Amino acid sequence: MPREIAISRIFSLTLCAVIACGGSDSGPTVPAEKTCQQDPSQSKCVTTPPVTTMLRSLAAAKSRSFGVAVDATFFGTNPAAYDTVVAHEFNMIVAGNVMKWSSIHRDGRYQYRWTNPDAMVAFAQANGMKVRGHTLAWYQQNPAWLTSTTWNPETLKVVLKEHVDSVVGHYKGKVAAWDIVNEAINDGSGTLRTTGSPWATTIGPSYIDLAFKEARAADPATQLFYNDYNLEFPGVKQDSAFAMISGMKARGVPIDGIGFQSHFQVNADGTGVPSKDVLVATFNRFAALGLKIHITELDIRVRTPGATSAELSAQTQGFSNVVSACLAVSACEAIVVWGLNDGESWIPGTFPGYGQALLFDDSFGKKATYNAVSAALGGS
Ligand code: G3I
Repeated sequence: MPREIAISRIFSLTLCAVIACGGSDSGPTVPAEKTCQQDPSQSKCVTTPPVTTMLRSLAAAKSRSFGVAVDATFFGTNPAAYDTVVAHEFNMIVAGNVMKWSSIHRDGRYQYRWTNPDAMVAFAQANGMKVRGHTLAWYQQNPAWLTSTTWNPETLKVVLKEHVDSVVGHYKGKVAAWDIVNEAINDGSGTLRTTGSPWATTIGPSYIDLAFKEARAADPATQLFYNDYNLEFPGVKQDSAFAMISGMKARGVPIDGIGFQSHFQVNADGTGVPSKDVLVATFNRFAALGLKIHITELDIRVRTPGATSAELSAQTQGFSNVVSACLAVSACEAIVVWGLNDGESWIPGTFPGYGQALLFDDSFGKKATYNAVSAALGGS
């Protein structure tokens, strides 16, 4: 996004926040509808629904954050309705892609692309939203300059430290929590994931400790998370994450939390979505290590087209289970959905025949899933 557009967006939304069009968890003192009539030039003002029914207000009343991942629509075509829904419904934001190596550190060892992530962080600040940073060491989405160079352990450690210093340092004081290491554990075996990972193959498992320590040094106030999927149900992978983090704690490695991505699928036999009890047990297991819990990438996909009413019902129940479980565990402080609306979700591209996994449809209309989340947060 050109910087002028980013600045214009920050300005208009800052004004919106100041004149009480939204962005306050406690709600505006002047009804949003009246304010927008007072200043019709502010096209990003939202007139409905009443602020007290919005997810961010409901979550804040429970001392939780409710967040959303934003991606191409936010940084590209950026319809006003998209921004207003993001600002009014959510009090946390994360970049679906633009803080990853392949975006923010795409062009070369000493070149960074700050424009898009800076615009997102400014948007968050203008609208009273926390920022989650995603992610600093992953086996995917690494730039060609990195993956096509032959490194030895020592040179690659320096490159990883430079990246963490630069990115975490750039956003020092502005990012509430960072996914430091993402998806380091193999499915099935629970072993260290090496395939595709320059970090694991060249540095070895010590890259994990290194990244966390470097992040703590770069911003002592931000919370440092390990983030992964398929940890929500008991099993080998969950056990492996537990052992890994226990080891980090024993070695004095700074780690503050664990992110449960929570990409779920409603299967034809009704399986796929964890119950509230399963999630509470999982969250409590990791909270006992002194960790904060974030649900970092929530979506629940169903068959498309043709999901049955039973499948759709399992989906809404799933969203309810996740929210209820988070509210039942004091260490669980945030829930983030992985995309605003179904049209920009990663699901159809990765799981053909599945989709409709989020809270809003392509016209930014609230779905039954939204109502389930709202109700679980204590709304009507
Ligand atoms: O940036 C290129 C662009 O230059 C090109 O024109 C375009 C054409 O396809 O592709 C763009 O890259 C895409 C990128 O998203 C940015 O839009 C990649 O092809 C696409 O594979 C990539 O997908 C992302 C995926 O991570 C990569 O694995 C999804 O948007 C993103 O939602 C997804 O997020 C991950 C989390 O980071 C970690 N947990 C799993 C989750 C879902 O896979």
